[in-house]
Amino acid sequence: MTYVSIKFSKNRLFYIDQTKLPLEEKWLECKNLNDGYSAIKNLNVRGAPLIGIFAAYVIIIHLKSLPLEKSLFLKEFKRAIAYLKGCRPTAVNLAWALQRLETLCWENQSRSVSRIKEMLAREARLMHREDISLCDNMAAFGAKLISDNDRVLTHCNTGFLATAGKGTALAVIYQAKKDKKNVTVYVDETRPLLQGARLTAWELMKNKITAFVICDNSAAYLMRKGLIDKVFVGADRIAANGDVANKIGTYSAALAANFHKIPFYVVAPFTTFDLSLASGGDIPIEQRPQDEVRLIMGSLPVVPKKAKACNFAFDLTPHDLITAIVSDKGIIYPPYKENIKKIMVKIM
Ligand code: MRU
Repeated sequence: MTYVSIKFSKNRLFYIDQTKLPLEEKWLECKNLNDGYSAIKNLNVRGAPLIGIFAAYVIIIHLKSLPLEKSLFLKEFKRAIAYLKGCRPTAVNLAWALQRLETLCWENQSRSVSRIKEMLAREARLMHREDISLCDNMAAFGAKLISDNDRVLTHCNTGFLATAGKGTALAVIYQAKKDKKNVTVYVDETRPLLQGARLTAWELMKNKITAFVICDNSAAYLMRKGLIDKVFVGADRIAANGDVANKIGTYSAALAANFHKIPFYVVAPFTTFDLSLASGGDIPIEQRPQDEVRLIMGSLPVVPKKAKACNFAFDLTPHDLITAIVSDKGIIYPPYKENIKKIMVKIM
């Protein structure tokens, strides 16, 4: 069964509101640039590859309202790209997709505005189709790492809700199931916004895969009890040396896996690699509102009045804790600096 999280049809953009899942499956329309900005900012649309594709479509929607006079068009186009790029800083896919549109526009600025608009719309659709096949490739490579009856720990949401295709880490599990392997998934609930409990569990149930939601703090104990064979997570940005930024809590899972000698795999497409950064220390880590920690599901307080909270949305996993990175071009093993460079040269 195929599921999707965004739809672009007849020049209209729709998305499933992920903040309402799993209680409500509600589709909304993104009608303009500000709608798109707040959908990404508030995590109605989330997941590194998905925000890139969605943002590209937001620009296409915005183009409808732009003037045909060239200099005004270029000025407003540039402003809109910069505005969306600043929406979420950690996942590089967002900047990557917008940069691709920007480059196409500058390379073709001698053409008429209506021609440029057509070319940009075609490019956004192309990126969408490409993301679907990147997911298929990662799934095929990653599934080779899964054995029958594996018990896999995962963190955050890395499935069809996080990409335009089947997903990154979850796509590997979907492929393993398709290959007739029996897989059990332990799903970190992923505080504070519960992407694991709300979204991953929902996806796995739709796909009829055995899953147990666990509190983030129980992963190490499950490992100690021998209940976890492998860890599969996604990534929001991977530096040139293989350091990975991903949802907060990924680092703790990697440390625990390393201590218990459990393979720790990261699954990400080339659009998540940022070779301009030598190491993870240079990746900007998004900090989000304190209320995401202080309130459950945005409304129920779980801390004393006036208690302060600290809310880093992502953390960094150093490359030496990572067994391999599954990319759309193949599985990358250490030494990462050399091997990432080799595989990325092939792609770019
Ligand atoms: O804040 P989110 O929900 O957008 O964070 C998403 C993640 O951290 C995912 O693990 C990541 O995007 C990689 S999977 C596509």
